[in-house]
Amino acid sequence: MPKIKNPLSLIKKDHNKVKSLFERYDKSKYEKKKSLSEEISKELSIHMRTEEELFYPRLEGISGESDSLISEAKQEHDKTKERLEAIKISGDEETLDMRIKEMEDGVLHHIQEEENKIFPLAEEKLKDQFPELSEKISSFKKAGS
Ligand SMILES: [Fe+2]
Repeated sequence: MPKIKNPLSLIKKDHNKVKSLFERYDKSKYEKKKSLSEEISKELSIHMRTEEELFYPRLEGISGESDSLISEAKQEHDKTKERLEAIKISGDEETLDMRIKEMEDGVLHHIQEEENKIFPLAEEKLKDQFPELSEKISSFKKAGS
């Protein structure tokens, strides 16, 4: 049976991966936390670039509602990028924990908004582009990792 190409499931896979990294972080010791924070940073960076370059532009300018959702999502990405910079220079465990937690809260909120509001919009407006968008997302991620 041919695999159904759905770009939203690729995006959701990334979301789930990041969520599980945050969970592992909570259970880890400091040395491991440091490497997990780097892994989280790498995952989020490539994920955000994928969405900003390939996914969001297709939802811009198609209806009033989608523009405001996308601009909110982009602001949340910008906030996450600032937090990623701060995380890189966290000098001790307590600071790292605090910054990771703050970022996790923001990212979880963002994921929820995206899956509950942006995904249904994409289902409605971009369905005919799904196979091609899936291909693009897959190769973008391969090139970036
Ligand atoms: Fe996302």
